Amino acid sequence: ASYKLLLLPGDGIGPEVMAGVETVLGALRETGLADFEAETDLVGGSAIDAHGVPLADATLAKAGAADAILLGAVGGPKWNGVAYEIRPEAGLLRLRKDLGLFANLRPAICYPALADASALKRELVEGLDILIVRELTGGVYFGEPKEITTLPDGSKRAVDTQVYTTGEIERIAHVAFDLARKRSGRVASAEKHNVMKSGVLWKEVVTQVHAAHYADVALEHVLADNCAMQLVRAPKQYDVLLTDNLFGDILSDVAAMLTGSLGMLPSASLGAVEAGGLRKALYEPVHGSAPDIAGQDKANPIAMIGSLALCLRYSFGLGEAADVLERAITDTLAGGARTADIAAAGQAAIGTRAMAETIAAA
Ligand code: NAI
Ligand code: MG
Repeated sequence: ASYKLLLLPGDGIGPEVMAGVETVLGALRETGLADFEAETDLVGGSAIDAHGVPLADATLAKAGAADAILLGAVGGPKWNGVAYEIRPEAGLLRLRKDLGLFANLRPAICYPALADASALKRELVEGLDILIVRELTGGVYFGEPKEITTLPDGSKRAVDTQVYTTGEIERIAHVAFDLARKRSGRVASAEKHNVMKSGVLWKEVVTQVHAAHYADVALEHVLADNCAMQLVRAPKQYDVLLTDNLFGDILSDVAAMLTGSLGMLPSASLGAVEAGGLRKALYEPVHGSAPDIAGQDKANPIAMIGSLALCLRYSFGLGEAADVLERAITDTLAGGARTADIAAAGQAAIGTRAMAETIAAA
């Protein structure tokens, strides 16, 4: 089958790392393992410059019609002055919200060739392969009321509200358990039921979903603060880590530092499964637009190319093509190719284009 991809390169290094994806797509077509039609459009600052908004309605319509979306990064100093409602990030938030992308998947993989770049000792991270499943459209970032009010004495009061419903917890729990089945069959669910009502419900619903549908998967509950400590103490104990929006934001940044560079980390954001088995899905690197190195052929394209591998696996079920691509990345690193962000002191670095071409050749 030929899948329809929408490529949204965005700003800063976004177009440079997305060019790497196009290089790799060409090589994948040649293997015969996967075929795509790719269309490109604007998002973020580049869309503001062209249309006055960070995500045009026509682009959103294309996103809705695509089988999957690959996004580079948005933002940069050029757009720091624009109104809050139309800032570059608002384009990305609109995409996530409009497509109902409630499940954020962030793998933290430590490549053997890069184990010494980790914040931890090699033996603690060698072979590390964690998948964080973070709820992305609920919780304290979205709950109402959300406000700052002025008190009678002139001081202020800020309120954020953590809200979760049974349905929101159920659907993210299903995503985590389904993924665990295809991995080592273990899920750890992190919350704080000791101090939060939303934590009590989270634990209860995850336990019920597990008992009703996933007796073959091992489930462990862990308090989120303890989980942060365990991630630094002995990260390899985890396989799939299921958690809410706030804790997932923090725990995934902790996990990121176990793997080396921001330039290595892909992510997937998934919506509900629709008729035909496809689901709305957006794949993007964890990093931003890196204005400090933009336009210099210095960016590491692996986070972006790794996001394509996630797309092959999670959107299209092309496990073999995803394996081939992930192995090409591993072999490229094992062969010594390094962009500047992952080069050890004194080690020669290659550019964005050369890295993508090396992976494509592999
Ligand atoms: P950033 O992730 O863009 O950069 C942080 C540091 O990591 C910089 O030193 C950068 O050079 C380096 N870095 C990032 N990606 C790299 C790569 N692929 N290869 C090599 N080095 C890399 O975060 P920062 O500087 O906080 O934000 C810059 C802009 O990006 C801001 O406008 C921010 O709002 C935006 N941003 C956008 C995101 C998105 O599109 N999802 C996410 C995070 C930030
Ligand atoms: Mg974060």
